[in-house]
Amino acid sequence: MRLRDKVAVVTGASQGLGQHLAIELAKEGAQVVLAARTKERLDDVAASITASGGRAVVVATDLCEEESCRELIEVTRKQVGPVDILILNAGSATYGRLDELLTLAPLREAVQVNLFGAVMPTFYALGDLIERKGLIAYVTSGAGHLPMAGYLGYTTSKHAMNGFFEALRLELRPHGVDVLTINPGDMYSDDGAGRTVVGPDGHQYKVDLSVYRRHDIPRRSASHVARRCIDAIVQRRRDVDESPPVQKIGSKLRIFAPQFVDRRIAQKALTMRSAFDAIADDQHRRQHPEVRPDCPWCLRTPTPLG
Ligand SMILES: NC(=O)c1ccc[n+]([C@@H]2O[C@H](COP(=O)([O-])OP(=O)(O)OC[C@H]3O[C@@H](n4cnc5c(N)ncnc54)[C@H](OP(=O)(O)O)[C@@H]3O)[C@@H](O)[C@H]2O)c1
Repeated sequence: MRLRDKVAVVTGASQGLGQHLAIELAKEGAQVVLAARTKERLDDVAASITASGGRAVVVATDLCEEESCRELIEVTRKQVGPVDILILNAGSATYGRLDELLTLAPLREAVQVNLFGAVMPTFYALGDLIERKGLIAYVTSGAGHLPMAGYLGYTTSKHAMNGFFEALRLELRPHGVDVLTINPGDMYSDDGAGRTVVGPDGHQYKVDLSVYRRHDIPRRSASHVARRCIDAIVQRRRDVDESPPVQKIGSKLRIFAPQFVDRRIAQKALTMRSAFDAIADDQHRRQHPEVRPDCPWCLRTPTPLG
């Protein structure tokens, strides 16, 4: 057990990568605090951890609310102890080009959850992390390095997240606090919960990307990625990059051949959006079989396959 008795807070622990990070941290002996909005799912994750002999505490948290973030850290301190490891995994993808958005809500929400939902717990846990020479791990995305057209809010928020934590790493170096960047690559949730996505109408959807593979890009299971992340946490590495080779090469090549790489990204984005459309259409039709005149998703024009 490489993290025995460490106190680890995991945001977005109710499903997907966060759930598996929490389970793997507990296997390494950490006391895990599970944060997300859906308490029932957090309780299920906590139950599976305790059934395997691990320790987990649930704190229902809305990361868009500063008071809720402050409480998350406060309850952790009182019930478990000062924070050693802060895993900032919660996130929401967005779908939509600027000309497709019906409201600016998807842009605001992406920044609120992906940036401030990571910044606020960090702010409140900072004293503990400095005192304990702790570790912050934040989960970014290829969209944090490359301009993912058609996913504007997501790209904006993940670029901002990278900027914040890259600079924070330098600020915290004299205090012995490490910052780990996790780029998980493209994943599907083994639990079938569906990835959290804000649509162009500003509503949140859970879209199960493991269902359809047609036109899609290769994906790995969240549980596989979580196991790779735990090694990086134990070794206090600077980053763990599970993105596919094409993305790694693209990020480097873009410095020298930006126009070429941008054209490839635009093509790829079209392909990914077609896959997303097919999944979202299917899920939407199952929920609302009839076309409704007041429903932005029913009325939107599907993206053609590039
Ligand atoms: N899936 C991919 O292919 C992929 C690729 C690159 C990067 N990533 C990044 O990896 C991380 C995990 O992705 P994932 O696919 O595992 O995500 P996911 O399955 O959609 O899960 C997102 C988690 O964030 C929580 N969350 C969302 N909004 C929240 C809020 N306002 N307050 C509290 N919790 C909130 C959700 O819980 P509740 O809904 O219960 O609140 C859920 O636990 C994210 O940061 C994502 O951007 C994912």
